[in-house]
Amino acid sequence: MPKTAKLLVTRRFPPDVLARAERDYTCTFNENDTAWQGDDLIARAAGHDAMLCSSSNKFTAGVVAGLPDEIGMLATFSVGFEHIDVDACKARGIAVSNTPDVLSDATADIAMMLLLTASRRAGEAERMMRSDSWPGWTPTQLLGPGLAGKRLGILGMGGIGRAVARRARGFGMEIHYHNRSRLAPDLEEGATYHATPEALLAQSQFLSINCPMSPEMKHFLDAERIELLPQGAVVVNTARGGLVDDAALIPALKSGRVFAAGLDVFEGEPKINPAYRDLDNVFMTPHMGSATIETRNAMGFKALDNLDAYFAGTELPDRVA
Ligand code: 8YV
Repeated sequence: MPKTAKLLVTRRFPPDVLARAERDYTCTFNENDTAWQGDDLIARAAGHDAMLCSSSNKFTAGVVAGLPDEIGMLATFSVGFEHIDVDACKARGIAVSNTPDVLSDATADIAMMLLLTASRRAGEAERMMRSDSWPGWTPTQLLGPGLAGKRLGILGMGGIGRAVARRARGFGMEIHYHNRSRLAPDLEEGATYHATPEALLAQSQFLSINCPMSPEMKHFLDAERIELLPQGAVVVNTARGGLVDDAALIPALKSGRVFAAGLDVFEGEPKINPAYRDLDNVFMTPHMGSATIETRNAMGFKALDNLDAYFAGTELPDRVA
């Protein structure tokens, strides 16, 4: 196949992904893997037909408006696409694709890990061991709430939410959820549907946030909604940091109103609210939900499948614009 299409590859994706991109396209790579933004991103787009990009590149309305005319498609290496102004892309006739499904299991693993590490105080435990400050076993050391028999509220029952539900059932949890629309019984698998997110919160001894980010959902978990949670709830977020109002969660963690949080995503990441660092009852990871070798390859291949479809003139398997 002649490598006629010119592809700007905005990050240093896994080697097998870069190798396939290079095999099929005339590529410009990002040698030092910086997250190009704004005018720099626009300038680098010149002379290319499409981009393989990531959620670390922000395609605001201004950036989309500034892209050169030859850019016909953005294939993002992510399921989330809130970093792309989809309406601005549609207005310019720029196609956009994402990578659903292939990261559901990996992300659900991290949600499960955070449910466990937050509730069972794994961060404190590990710091105790590393700092040689273990006084020896005591009957009340590092106690936390168990998962078995507890209600897990899942906000957003898409592929990731359902994968969390499958795992949590294995830990003996009772699954509750809210989703924009109720799932069919075969997908619900016995989970209890709540028509409003607020009704879900009231039942959520454990809460896992798995919904997409949108302007309406900014700071969804605010002070008022935290008050709806049962006393001593455990909150886990593997979706987007902006869904949580840090200014509300931090005092709730300090007071014990929320027992613990497990956070993989942060508003304004990689800069995080520094108050989290001082809280023993937060277990934090650096946005690594999809970080398995298999998953990151599958994400890259899915993005390339979409680019291949675009250049072949066929329908994109994962079109979002
Ligand atoms: C990505 C993610 O690794 O897919 C998503 O939406 O949050 C992660 O899996 C990250 O966004 C890089 O593009």
